[in-house]
Amino acid sequence: MSQRRSVVLGTGGYLPERVLTNEDLARMVETSDEWIAARTGIRQRHIAAEDQLTSDLATRAAESALAAAGVEPSAIDLIILATTTPDRTFPATATAVQAKLGIAGGAAFDVQAVCSGFLFALATADSMLRTGLFDTALVLGAETFTRILDWSDRGTCVLFGDGAGGVVLQAQEDVQAGDRGILAHHIRTDGTKGDLLHVDGGVSSTGTIGHVRMQGNQVFRHAVTNISSAVEAVLGETGVGIEEVDWFVPHQANQRILDGVAKRLKLKESKVISTVAGHGNTSAASIPLALWTAVSDGRIKPGDLVLSEAMGGGFSWGATLLRL
Ligand code: UT7
Repeated sequence: MSQRRSVVLGTGGYLPERVLTNEDLARMVETSDEWIAARTGIRQRHIAAEDQLTSDLATRAAESALAAAGVEPSAIDLIILATTTPDRTFPATATAVQAKLGIAGGAAFDVQAVCSGFLFALATADSMLRTGLFDTALVLGAETFTRILDWSDRGTCVLFGDGAGGVVLQAQEDVQAGDRGILAHHIRTDGTKGDLLHVDGGVSSTGTIGHVRMQGNQVFRHAVTNISSAVEAVLGETGVGIEEVDWFVPHQANQRILDGVAKRLKLKESKVISTVAGHGNTSAASIPLALWTAVSDGRIKPGDLVLSEAMGGGFSWGATLLRL
């Protein structure tokens, strides 16, 4: 049966110039390169320049995705930006990206699901494209996450970085079963676990921005289980076997979580895209950045079957299966 499906036409990414290494961090808090590398796999992260906003990072990523797709900004009628670190409380950072790209029409809005944000944005865009509400979308994940870190808390400040990534997604008609496009999503949240990973500030609570607070080992404990169940849901829905998956592009929180999920799902290590060592955890930007990295270096090719997953604050988690 033919159908309308959302197809990824191009991927893009942007990492700020400044790099902060584990050795740099060891001069700021009581930590070491050995501890960070052994517990997380992270070696360095990128930090946005003082005058760079989340929308600046997102716009750079959008421009690179548009160039890769061969699509003009004027063809975009939907921008969904996943971010936890917006430029301002309002308007949506996506509208700043819209303005910076010189796009006057369509709709632009933000999605907030922390580290799972990109998959929530992708599911939202896909639903809107498939129902015919829009035709060509920019789906972005962008963060200046280091701005909400408490640089004296070694349990969190060593984990995160800044960056942006995204895809151009276009609805295509009369797609057949084996063709390119997004095949399935599974997104879930559990609000009862909100306190285990949160920011201790906000507009209607403290009137401040606040800092990231995390009970890391509790989050870790839930991550592998939630991620695995989301992955099993998308595989079950599509009838795709794990051995058919060409590439696994997970949210890049911790190499140990990546390894744990891959092991549980019986995924070959050689299929796992890991950027955790170079980028750290860039929250909503990590999946599109990892996708862009592996497409740019030629590992992921058009037609490959790509499985993605994420888990983050909320708790929020999800998985997406797509043929690039
Ligand atoms: O993307 C959103 C989702 N987030 C995640 O998925 C993060 C999930 N959690 C994790 O990745 C891990 O829990 C962490 C990497 C955050 C921590 O690793 P852990 O193995 O769970 O360590 P822990 O929190 O149980 O702490 C073990 C020890 C503690 O010392 P004591 O109490 O045993 O003496 C910590 O104080 O490690 C200490 N510690 C550190 N030591 C050196 C915590 N952070 C550091 C640090 N450097 N940066």
